[in-house]
Amino acid sequence: MLNEEFTGKTRICGIIGDPVEHSISPVMHNAAFKKLGLDYLYLPFHVQPENLRRAMEGMRGLNICGINVTIPHKIEVLQYLDAVDPLAAKIGAVNVVVNSGGLLQGFNTDAEGFLQPLLEKKVDPRGKRAVILGAGGASRAIAYILSEHGSDVTILNRTSGKAIQFIEAVSQTTGKIMGTMELNEMNLSAVMAVADILVNTTSVGMSPANNETLVTRALLRPGMVVADVVYNPSKTRLLMEAEKAGAVTIGGLEMLVWQGALSFEKWTGLKAPLEEMRKAARKALKV
Ligand code: ATR
Repeated sequence: MLNEEFTGKTRICGIIGDPVEHSISPVMHNAAFKKLGLDYLYLPFHVQPENLRRAMEGMRGLNICGINVTIPHKIEVLQYLDAVDPLAAKIGAVNVVVNSGGLLQGFNTDAEGFLQPLLEKKVDPRGKRAVILGAGGASRAIAYILSEHGSDVTILNRTSGKAIQFIEAVSQTTGKIMGTMELNEMNLSAVMAVADILVNTTSVGMSPANNETLVTRALLRPGMVVADVVYNPSKTRLLMEAEKAGAVTIGGLEMLVWQGALSFEKWTGLKAPLEEMRKAARKALKV
C-alpha cells in the first residue's frame, strides 16, 4: 500500500455503489494517477440507497473532487446534482460527478465508453440494425448513443412493460422511434436474422454462471458485431461463440476501461493513460 505518499494536498475521488466491493475502478484509477504522478486518491464508498442524499451532501462537504456512480444510483443521483450535462440528461442516467468548487455536475461516460471501442474496431453504427438485450441503465446509454449515431435499435427485455416505458422515454429524447419486444426465443430469432449489431446488457453469463448465454450459437453470423457489457469473465460464452462464428467481438472490459478513462479526464482535465488503466483492470481480473 502507498499510504505514506498521501499528504494534506491529496485530492480524493471515488465510486459510490451498492454493492461496491467487486469494483475494479479503484485499481484502474489509482494506477492512472500514479502513472501521471498526480496527487490524487480513488476510494470505494459503499452507499446504500437510503443514504444517497447524505453521500452527495458529504461529497460537497468533504470537498471530494469527483465520483463514479454505479448500481443502483445512476438514475436517483440526478436529483442531488446542481447541473446535468445534456447527454446525461437525455439518457437519464449519470455515472460521473464532478465537484467544481461545491457545484456538483453530472455526466454520462457509459455511452461514449461503448462507442469508443466500437469505433476502434472500425464499426460505423450508421444504418446498422442493432439489437440490445436488457432495459436497465447500461441499455439506456447504449440505445441512446447507437440511435444518435444512426442505428436502428430494437430492445428485447424479459419484463416487456419495462422496455416499453424505457423506449418511449428514449424515443422522445432522440426523436427516433425504436422497437421493443419481449425477450423470448421466437422474437430473438426474428430480430437476429437481420441484425448487424448485438449487445448484451443483462447480467447473463456473468461469473459464476459463466456457461449461460441468452443467444444460441446458430443465431450468430460472420461479420456481425457482438458486444457484451459483462466483464467478468472477460470473454463470456456469448463472446466465445460469436468469435467462433466469425463475428467482431467487443468485451465489457473495454467499455469499462473507456468509461473510466473518460471519467478521469473530467476530473483531472488530462488525457487518461488508457493503456495503464487497461493493464491495471486486466491484472485485477487476472486476465
Ligand atoms: P444495468 O444498470 O447494469 O443495466 P440493471 O438496471 O439491473 O443493470 O438491468 C439489468 C437488465 O438485465 C434488466 O433489463 C433485466 O431484465 P428485467 O427488466 O426483466 O429485470 C435484465 N436481466 C437480468 N437478468 C436476466 C435474465 N436472466 N434474463 C433476461 N434478462 C435479464
